[in-house]
Amino acid sequence: MRSPGDFPKAIRGRTQMWSISIATASTTFEEPYNIARRFSSLDQISRGRAGWNVVTTASADAAANFNLDTMPDPADRYRRAHEFLEVTNGLWDGWDEDAVAADKAAGVYADPDKVHSIGHDGEFFKVAGPLNVGRSPQGRPVIVQAGSSAPGIVLAAAYAEAVFTAQDNIADARVFYSKLKAATVDAGRDPDGIKILPGVVPLIGSTEAEARDLERRLDDLVVIEHALNQLAADIGIPADEIDLDAPLPDDIRPVTEVSTSRYELTVNLARRENLTVRQLLIRLGGGRGHRTFAGTPEQVADTIIEWFTTGASDGFNIMPAVMPSGLETFVDQVVPILQQRGVFRRDYAGTTLRDHYELAAPARGVRAELATTE
Ligand SMILES: Cc1cc2nc3c(=O)[nH]c(=O)nc-3n(C[C@H](O)[C@H](O)[C@H](O)COP(=O)(O)O)c2cc1C
Repeated sequence: MRSPGDFPKAIRGRTQMWSISIATASTTFEEPYNIARRFSSLDQISRGRAGWNVVTTASADAAANFNLDTMPDPADRYRRAHEFLEVTNGLWDGWDEDAVAADKAAGVYADPDKVHSIGHDGEFFKVAGPLNVGRSPQGRPVIVQAGSSAPGIVLAAAYAEAVFTAQDNIADARVFYSKLKAATVDAGRDPDGIKILPGVVPLIGSTEAEARDLERRLDDLVVIEHALNQLAADIGIPADEIDLDAPLPDDIRPVTEVSTSRYELTVNLARRENLTVRQLLIRLGGGRGHRTFAGTPEQVADTIIEWFTTGASDGFNIMPAVMPSGLETFVDQVVPILQQRGVFRRDYAGTTLRDHYELAAPARGVRAELATTE
């Protein structure tokens, strides 16, 4: 476990920041009861600062570790994810706000009339409930989602409160942003109730030349053989069938084992910029398709503000190429500029992760209200 001392000095001591946890867990390889219990516990331990990054996973290597010979196809993975979230939300909502009496003298921990089973019996899961962990400070962890294809957008629109996405240019980021906000409205939700957070990899130098030099040094560190294996996995072609000094073949298409959104991002980038595979590998670098840019703190702030104010994002997942120095530089040199320009908070308005994201408490599902009491 990290202690505050491990963190850059600019964020040391701001305990609300370092104790936030958004952890990733896959709906393809987990069980909803375990996940509901684990994240409820994390929300208790962190005093309401837990989030769950919901992923469906698109890796044949992962499937081989979870009793599967082949990866389920994307439609099955997303159907399972919908049902998974129905179950976890039902379990979390199964405890009324005032269910815990904790009356030591009377020997009563919780009022059984306020703890509800869910009696779920679906395509993928059979879960009776109730959850054996009481209601956590946020009621439910903040639901984050990562998976940006059309069915990923439908899943996010139905359940997510924040979305982690890879977008390598502002035009595509705006298209993704408006599609997801429209889908959220179609799902009957407030579009402000979902925060879209593309990953960004800022390479910061005190002058533009210094930033470019850092970029060059990082590009030189790309090990072509490793990057090729990653690319091969991302586009679903064996590495030994890829010619490094030619463009990507014309006749490729996404297969079950790849992420459709990552595939499209990678192939579109290669075609748009007319890159050979070797150039593509350098271009992807460590960011693997997340927006990577080099500049001074002012230039980095300008880019961030442009995305933030022109319908490309509601915030960002900052992914420094070098840790912890890259985060330290960002926090010490870019955040003050964002604060001066009025787009970054100077203080916290609340205490929970949901407060920090300016999200309303989630509407409780009908499932818990309809469920029988045990
Ligand atoms: C930005 C981003 C981050 C992701 N992170 C993970 C991860 O940490 N673990 C995982 O198993 N899958 C991860 N995924 C994979 C997705 O959950 C999903 O299975 C995959 O992207 C295929 O769906 P899509 O085509 O809808 O994007 C990530 C996807 C995106 C877009």
